[in-house]
Amino acid sequence: MAAMTDRALRDIPVDELQAEEAREELRALAEEIAEHDRHYYQEDAPAIDDAAYDALRRRNEAIEARFSELIREDSPSGRVGAAPSAGFAKVRHRVPMLSLQNAFDEDEVREFVARIRRFLKLGDDDAMPTVLAEPKIDGLSCALRYENGRLVQAATRGDGTEGEDVTANVRTIETVPDRLPGGAPAVVEVRGEVYMTRGAFAEMNAGRAERGEAVFANPRNAAAGSLRQLDPSVTAKRPLRFFAYAWGEVAEPIGDSVSQIRRRFRQWGFELNEPAVLCSDIDAMLAHYAHVMEDRAELAFEIDGVVYKVDDLRLQDRLGYVSRAPRWAIAHKFPAERATTVLNDIVIQVGRTGALTPVAVLEPITVGGVVVARATLHNEDEVARKDIRIGDTVVIQRAGDVIPQVVEVVADRRPEGAEPFAMPDHCRECGSLAVRPEGEAVRRCTGGLICPAQAVERLRHFVSRDAFDIEGLGEKLVRQLWDRELIRRPGDIFRLRDRQADGAVDLTTWEGWGQKSVANLLAAIDARREMPLDRFVFALGIRQVGQATARLLARHYGTIEQLRESLTAAADRESEAYSELVDIEQIGPSVADDLVAFFQEPHNIEVLDDLLAAVTVRPVEPVGSVDSPVAGKTVVFTGTLETMSRSEAKARAETLGAKVAGSVSKKTDYVVVGGDAGSKAAKARELGVTTLTEEEWRDLAGL
Ligand code: IVH
Repeated sequence: MAAMTDRALRDIPVDELQAEEAREELRALAEEIAEHDRHYYQEDAPAIDDAAYDALRRRNEAIEARFSELIREDSPSGRVGAAPSAGFAKVRHRVPMLSLQNAFDEDEVREFVARIRRFLKLGDDDAMPTVLAEPKIDGLSCALRYENGRLVQAATRGDGTEGEDVTANVRTIETVPDRLPGGAPAVVEVRGEVYMTRGAFAEMNAGRAERGEAVFANPRNAAAGSLRQLDPSVTAKRPLRFFAYAWGEVAEPIGDSVSQIRRRFRQWGFELNEPAVLCSDIDAMLAHYAHVMEDRAELAFEIDGVVYKVDDLRLQDRLGYVSRAPRWAIAHKFPAERATTVLNDIVIQVGRTGALTPVAVLEPITVGGVVVARATLHNEDEVARKDIRIGDTVVIQRAGDVIPQVVEVVADRRPEGAEPFAMPDHCRECGSLAVRPEGEAVRRCTGGLICPAQAVERLRHFVSRDAFDIEGLGEKLVRQLWDRELIRRPGDIFRLRDRQADGAVDLTTWEGWGQKSVANLLAAIDARREMPLDRFVFALGIRQVGQATARLLARHYGTIEQLRESLTAAADRESEAYSELVDIEQIGPSVADDLVAFFQEPHNIEVLDDLLAAVTVRPVEPVGSVDSPVAGKTVVFTGTLETMSRSEAKARAETLGAKVAGSVSKKTDYVVVGGDAGSKAAKARELGVTTLTEEEWRDLAGL
């Protein structure tokens, strides 16, 4: 009887399932899939074929996507914790998914190679390391995890640390192998790009247009939109493909070089982004770039440049990473695409720091496959320099993800009577005076804490993707909540659940909101009650503190308590805390000033305390092996090193969890003294800080 019920249930389309039925079906699926996994993994004797197994998993995921509140703890999709509002579970990348530095011209490519040579301490007569040049595909990066040869998880890049679980959708992509042949490591994460060919894209769009459905702007958007479907059966109908070009976690090495690993990927059944060639000098790299650019239109897929990668993995390992990108690779981008359109208006945007930015409102136009309706004009000097006036015909340009820009005015198309643009001297939002300090390009609203535009922008920054990343809390809602005085500062966001519960507000009665969307929003907020220190610091929106600086600070200070104490003490320029701050590589006096100023403003402290009452800040784990003997130690390098460049020494020390400082103080643990060392070695002796020779350092650090 039970079997009959199950079979009947299974035939009901996911869209038509009632909650009770969904609950029952999820229970049955969890049990069934677990049993098949047992057959497969433990007994090596699958009871059903792959397609039938995948169908079970797909159905499970589709039901979970619709009834996120019913997801079981023992769900086969392996989700943990609360289901995020958008319906995709989050996946933490065990090896971060990083991005690439960009080169926009030949000189930048030359500098990339020169930097590698310097870093590796290569002599003028040494050949440069061989570089693999391959197309940069304009799609969506994705990590595919195989365990015991079976695809078990697929995740989007997300913020690089955490992506979305799109396993069910990726399983529908034909060019993604379900299984790897024998000989593949027990765990291997193949990374690459999900994309759509131009041909398939055009065909799909034509079909959509015919049916009166919205068309996609370009293949990239189409690929992204198709991969992020909550219902995998929709994804299955979209012509997605996958190129393998990188890897993440691997149980054992899969090769010695990129080119070797690519061959392995091909043997495993993956498609590769071609043409890829090995280059032994810069000329060969640039020739390949020129060749690819010329043939670009003939390629079946859209690309936005060529990626150069040092082929030898041992060298890659030595070169390591800067910030969030490898030192061993760079993307040589194709030139930006341009178009001509009419500038209908110039509006003023007020940023979170009060900066007034003129923005061009354009007659919408397609540039490089994207419809552009706005472009930044940067600041009033820029508008004056280019003499941009309302009514002008302008040339705009868009490069990659960069905000579109107005390049120039088409002078002979200026309408009669067009007036030069004048920047307002008052903030349109709060009426406060907008002033431009001597020597600065930016005019700022002086309304500070009373200016609603600034407050709303600060909140928007706080919830944005690289900060607290609260899904569903977009620009419009932030503004509405601000206007109704429900959210005036970040801590208020975390009180929203209580206010909804005690009836102070009923979001479900707001237009466009229902029980489910409100529940999702509150769940998305709850999911952020714990936040790693670097994102937390970035979210505070301190002037000049972007993601990279926030990471530096987090890595340096480790905990919010330490960071706060030090930055407060740093107000005294004579203090150790201040020297420590400016000693952090890449933090100059101007950034230091903004950091200090932030922690001196009583209102900021109030906002911070209020927020800390609701949020737990996760300390930053030191990078590299925690049990390294130099982890947590502060090291200063001085003089010329023999076996590695200063940059490599520094990078390696940091990988081992050490902090590298520029000058010697009482807090320094070791000073590594190379040849021709000067005052720093002397200072070390004076302060009684341990000095090490390069060899002693290598021994100590286990290099
Ligand atoms: S290698 C450590 N190779 O470009 C970096 N990335 O701008 C590993 N991309 O997030 C990436 N084509 O999504 C690499 N041939 C290629 C690529 C490629 C496209 C994407 C990738 C990455 C982004 C960085």
